[in-house]
Amino acid sequence: MSNYGSNYQNIGMSQAMDAGKARSRKSKFIIIGSVVGLLVLAAIGIAVGVTVSNNNKKNASTSGSSSSSSSGSGGNSNTGSTTGGTKSDPNDPSNFTKDPNLHQAFYGMAYTPEGALIEFGCTNTLESVIQDIQLMSQLTKRVRLYGADCNQTAQVLEAITRTNVDMEVFVGIYNVADDNHAAYQRQRDLIKDAISTYGTKHIGGITVGNEFMLNYVTDKAISDVNSADAQVGADILIADIKDAKQMVQDLKLDKAIPVGNSDAGSYFPTTVMEAMDYGLSNVHAWFAHTTATAAAPWVFNFFQETNVSPAALLANKPQMYIAETGWPTKSSDAKNANNGGSDASVPNLQIFLDDFVCKANQDGVRYFFFEMFDEEWKDVKFGGVEGWWGLFNKDRTLKDVKIPTCTSP
Ligand SMILES: *[C@@H]1O[C@H](CO)[C@@H](O)[C@H](O)[C@H]1NC(C)=O
Ligand SMILES: *[C@@H]1O[C@H](CO)[C@@H](O)[C@H](O)[C@H]1NC(C)=O
Repeated sequence: MSNYGSNYQNIGMSQAMDAGKARSRKSKFIIIGSVVGLLVLAAIGIAVGVTVSNNNKKNASTSGSSSSSSSGSGGNSNTGSTTGGTKSDPNDPSNFTKDPNLHQAFYGMAYTPEGALIEFGCTNTLESVIQDIQLMSQLTKRVRLYGADCNQTAQVLEAITRTNVDMEVFVGIYNVADDNHAAYQRQRDLIKDAISTYGTKHIGGITVGNEFMLNYVTDKAISDVNSADAQVGADILIADIKDAKQMVQDLKLDKAIPVGNSDAGSYFPTTVMEAMDYGLSNVHAWFAHTTATAAAPWVFNFFQETNVSPAALLANKPQMYIAETGWPTKSSDAKNANNGGSDASVPNLQIFLDDFVCKANQDGVRYFFFEMFDEEWKDVKFGGVEGWWGLFNKDRTLKDVKIPTCTSP
């Protein structure tokens, strides 16, 4: 359906589909990263992500007929609550019932409206986005999107307006390297429209790029993200970041909207960091083969050493956020149910929630938890743990987890 082969907006975390290839890439990245133990772990996680990114691209060209509903209900057996969306006055979405199991513990949440992908036909509806915002606003004040296609920016801003909740959106643009900026420009214009309709009040930033450099260097088999070869790709990304900054300037807005970039943790070239106001970094303990109990400390360490410290050394000091972190609750096949640490399971998600959320809040670590809902399209397309990272099931019922009791800043 899409002309943009690699145009999915949400491939942040990924797992191997082709075990052989994964292994060879893994060893390659292990060698590259072997200087420091932590780098090794990072590299493994990255290598796996890389492999799937490639698979994603391959699959994209043949996925025109996949349907996100072919496997029926995506809900798993871990349903512990009867939330199931939110009871709401049909004429007034701002009048909705709060779930006593939820409160604003999270700094931010990673979210893609269901169906908001060109290749899946843009089946996202304002009604379902309103329900999602009603739920999400009970957990956090911030949400990040991955792309702007399918009118998702306007839908989310409209939903925030109608529900009258206090939420800030980090809108996103998913750009690609080989289309002469077409995907970038298309989404930029959608965001521009949304800003002129809804204003700046609920916009926290414009994120240009999602794993752009990860995809670029993987496609070209470039090992060093700061090399001259990688810089050719970085220049494409930087041009889009600069264009977005120019757009913001030209709009003469009532408040400064920062323009950032999002990528896998180890894929921020220095030149890109120097061009961005903020960076969103994917930091996944699961892909680094940690246990659930080691996961939170691993994430804090990796983020500090790989992203926060380097950013602080730059003149522009880009504000770094964790773009994605979480723990999967199940796998669609047995062989991916454990990545070398602990199982994908609800109790292990609970361990990660308990170890990560309140400490991050306390330490001032800014993060978008990955993620709000299970995503059926990912399960259909990639299998394994890919579709099962939600706090909520696909049917909008809360999994059998207890939201940590702290409140996010
Ligand atoms: C809110 O919605 C409920 C249920 O639809 C309704 O009974 C109630 O009157 C509404 N409250 C207000 C203030 O509109
Ligand atoms: C985009 O979404 C907004 C909010 O729901 C709606 O008002 C607008 O008509 C939509 N535009 C298109 C082209 O679908």
